[in-house]
Amino acid sequence: MTLLAPSILAADFSKLGEETRAIAQAGADWIHLDVMDGHFVPNISFGPAVVKALRPWTDKVFDVHLMIAPADPYLAAFAEAGADAITVHVEAGPHIHRSLQTIRGLGKRAGVALNPGTLASAIEPLLDMVDLVLVMTVNPGFGGQSFIHSSLETVARVKAMTAGRSIDISVDGGITPETAGPAASAGANILVAGSAAFKGGPTQYEKNVAAIREAAQAATGRDGVRC
Ligand code: DX5
Ligand code: ZN
Repeated sequence: MTLLAPSILAADFSKLGEETRAIAQAGADWIHLDVMDGHFVPNISFGPAVVKALRPWTDKVFDVHLMIAPADPYLAAFAEAGADAITVHVEAGPHIHRSLQTIRGLGKRAGVALNPGTLASAIEPLLDMVDLVLVMTVNPGFGGQSFIHSSLETVARVKAMTAGRSIDISVDGGITPETAGPAASAGANILVAGSAAFKGGPTQYEKNVAAIREAAQAATGRDGVRC
């Protein structure tokens, strides 16, 4: 089954609580929270205080994507704020192994993210320590960018590498009803979508979520098996 994780980066920041609840009620499976530091990526978004403030608005899985370096000093704060999954970038520092150990030690799902320029093999030594691999399908930092098709090769490699393990594979960036199918076919079971999920405002959320989900299901079959 393909899950949809709308990114609140594309929501109306002046009413993030209402937006989070609205997208959850519109059929989101997880809520994706993009944390940016203006250092690892050229943009700044929000930190653990915002994650904590949003936690009461839904009981959906909070999928926190850290685009920050260093990440380690902040992992406990995000766990305490209510993250269910915490993803760190393999490019964000020399001690990714330690970061993943820390996340698991905090009792959270540990995720590792790969930028479009990073080989899938970079995470091979980490497979025993991760619950989620996030493949960036744009360069991280901004919503609304175009999907990088060559990233699908990375998704397929991660899929092959993780065969037989219970590791989720998510794709993040430029996911629309057009790109959801190819991403799901390549092996992604979690689709992160910002602009395509939130476009048009709350009255459109149910339609937006359904369009992305249906495109993924059309490409993979309703039970998530490739066809
Ligand atoms: C990019 C973020 C993404 C982004 C997706 O750095 O990690 O989650 O918000 O936004 P869209 O779907 O608009 O590309
Ligand atoms: Zn993200």
